Amino acid sequence: MDERTPRLYSDLAWVWPLWGDPDGEYAEWCAHVVAMIEKHAQREVRTLLNLGCGGGKNAYNLKRHYEVTGLDLSLAMLANARKLNPECTFVLGDMREFSLETRFDAILIDDAVAYMTSQQDLSRLFRAAHRHLAPGGVVIVSPDGTKETFEQNETRVSHAEARARPEGVDVVFVENNYDPDPTDDTYDGLILYLIREDGRLRVEVDHHTLGIFAADVWPTLLREAGFAVFDDDWRPGSVKSYIGVKPPAACATGG
Ligand SMILES: C[S@@+](CC[C@H](N)C(=O)[O-])C[C@H]1O[C@@H](n2cnc3c(N)ncnc32)[C@H](O)[C@@H]1O
Repeated sequence: MDERTPRLYSDLAWVWPLWGDPDGEYAEWCAHVVAMIEKHAQREVRTLLNLGCGGGKNAYNLKRHYEVTGLDLSLAMLANARKLNPECTFVLGDMREFSLETRFDAILIDDAVAYMTSQQDLSRLFRAAHRHLAPGGVVIVSPDGTKETFEQNETRVSHAEARARPEGVDVVFVENNYDPDPTDDTYDGLILYLIREDGRLRVEVDHHTLGIFAADVWPTLLREAGFAVFDDDWRPGSVKSYIGVKPPAACATGG
C-alpha cells in the first residue's frame, strides 16, 4: 500500500481486533452469507475466497463451513487475520488485479468493496472474481451503501470490545461520512480514534476515500462481467446484497 493507505490498515491496524466482536454481528452476517451461498450455488461449495479479508473476522466464522482463503492489500491486516485464523490461507494482493492458481466455489466481497472508487474499479474486481470462480460458483457482493441510502454527515460512535482490550487500553471510534460532491462516485470517510493508554488520551485522525454508486450499477456491472444476478435483503432497511452465479456452461469456453 502507498502513502495514502488508511491508518486503520497500517500504523493503527492494532486497533482492528478491538473494533467489532467476531462472535457478534460478524457471526450473524456470516450465517446469512452461508445461507445465500447454499441457496444460489450450482455446485457443491467447499472453498471460499474472501476479497479484502481485512483482519479475518469473516474468515473466523466462514471457516466452520468452508476452506477459506483471504486476500488483502494490507500486510498489517493480514497479520491480524493470520493470528485469528492460523489454519486459513492469506495472500497479499489487490482485489482488482490478482491472479491465483486456484478456482474457488464461492467468493465473498463485502465491506472492503467500499474502497472501489470508480465503476472501472468495480468492473475490474467483478471480472477478476469471475476468472477465479469455478463454473456454477457464486460471488456474494455486499455494499455498505448506495447513492440512494447515503446520509450526509452521518456520525457513529462505537467502543472497543471489552474482552479484546489489552490491559490499560481503551479506544472510542468516531466515524463521520461526508460527500463534498454528490455528483461524483466518491465520499470522505473520517475516523477519529480516542485512544486512552493508562488514562492518557491521544486522538488520531484517519481519512478514507470511499466509493458510492447508484443501486442499479451493481447488478449491471456484475452482468457485464458474465454473471447471472440475483439480489437479497438481509434485514429490513439493510442495503441489498447481489449474488452473481457463474453459469455452469461457462466451463465449455474456459470461463
Ligand atoms: C474493513 S476492512 C475488512 C474487514 C473484514 N471484513 C474482516 O472480516 O475483518 C477493509 C479491508 O479492505 C482492504 N482493501 C482495500 N482496498 C483493497 C484492494 N484494492 N485490494 C484488496 N484489499 C483491499 C483493506 O486493506 C482492509 O483490510
